[in-house]
Amino acid sequence: MRIDTKIVRIDSGMPLEAQLLDAAEIIKSGGLVAFPTETVYGLGADATNSDAAMKIYAAKGRPSDNPLIIHISTPTEAEGYAHTCEVYYRLAREFMPGPLTVILPARESVPRTTRGGLDTVAVRCPENKIASTLIRLSGVPIAAPSANRSGSPSPTSAQHVIDDMTGRVDMIIDGGSCDFGLESTIVSVNPDESVTLLRPGKITAADITALGIEVIIADAVKDRLRDGEIALSPGMKYRHYAPSCEVLLLDAEKEKAADFILNYVKGRGIAKYAVIAYSEDVGFYTGLLTNAYIYNFGEKADEMTQAHSLFDILRRADKEDFSVIFAPLPPAEGIGLALYNRMIRAAAHKIIRL
Ligand code: TXA
Ligand code: MG
Repeated sequence: MRIDTKIVRIDSGMPLEAQLLDAAEIIKSGGLVAFPTETVYGLGADATNSDAAMKIYAAKGRPSDNPLIIHISTPTEAEGYAHTCEVYYRLAREFMPGPLTVILPARESVPRTTRGGLDTVAVRCPENKIASTLIRLSGVPIAAPSANRSGSPSPTSAQHVIDDMTGRVDMIIDGGSCDFGLESTIVSVNPDESVTLLRPGKITAADITALGIEVIIADAVKDRLRDGEIALSPGMKYRHYAPSCEVLLLDAEKEKAADFILNYVKGRGIAKYAVIAYSEDVGFYTGLLTNAYIYNFGEKADEMTQAHSLFDILRRADKEDFSVIFAPLPPAEGIGLALYNRMIRAAAHKIIRL
């Protein structure tokens, strides 16, 4: 069923609350509102309303065993929905509000639909003012996955959400482009007070270790799940963030990468292809690969710009009919690990080491 989607552009010169009252009413009455966060846009509904959560799965085309993150406006609100612990508060003091999601044992107040049938619940307290004000005005935690159709990259601008969700949600709040551009870091808390990193993001393993908390990096962060292996996070088992054409990650110096690209496209008679290149390599590739479309990824050392542009580049590239996209393999450490994790998925784990 197609619904009428209202698009609300936030005017930063006007008080925020008045601009979000209608959105809060929609959430309270069980509707869907897409809103910006500091990571990516979310597709929100009342987390305590099972029917509203079902609407999220339908709008995204998402399997209903893939649980939703519940968004709260202050860390202590987690008490109503999860069994918190000391490690949660140590993380919260340092990183909340901010781009961190913590998996905790759930309370019955969170419907099974919201948590995809699991006994745990994912809790996040976003920093973005539009997000936190909307949660506060709604008076309920907001369940929100990324506001993309299942299988396409997370949206980092309102236009991305408009492209994916028009006709599927009641309202889209346009709050400009998201600060970071990759989804939150997700950790689960273990009984021995260590945490397992399930999805890398802006808050890195080293940031958490610096608090004296041991961090175990789940295998699926860097590798594909082995046959029969059970995903620690249901999202790990689904194909994610992948453009429709082939994506190849090149772990190589630019000279070797260019040789490989030339041979690859010539050997296969490929006429239309793209290269995602670090700024300092753009000139080199443009000179050599005369018919390639080159996307500027930002400077090699500037992971923040790369994080900010990755999903937008993938979305733009997906609109062209490239036969293949070549991209550099980021170093799997620090914020680079978040890029690495998204890019190996976009490339269906196709890494060429030269
Ligand atoms: O930055 C973000 O986290 C964004 C914004 C909107 O907050 N949200 C987001 O949600 O990325 P989503 O649904 O696209 O990704 C959440 C991931 C999914 O892979 C899901 O499987 C996992 O978190 N997850 C949710 N609840 C879980 C739980 N109880 N146990 C394990 N994994 C869980
Ligand atoms: Mg998502």
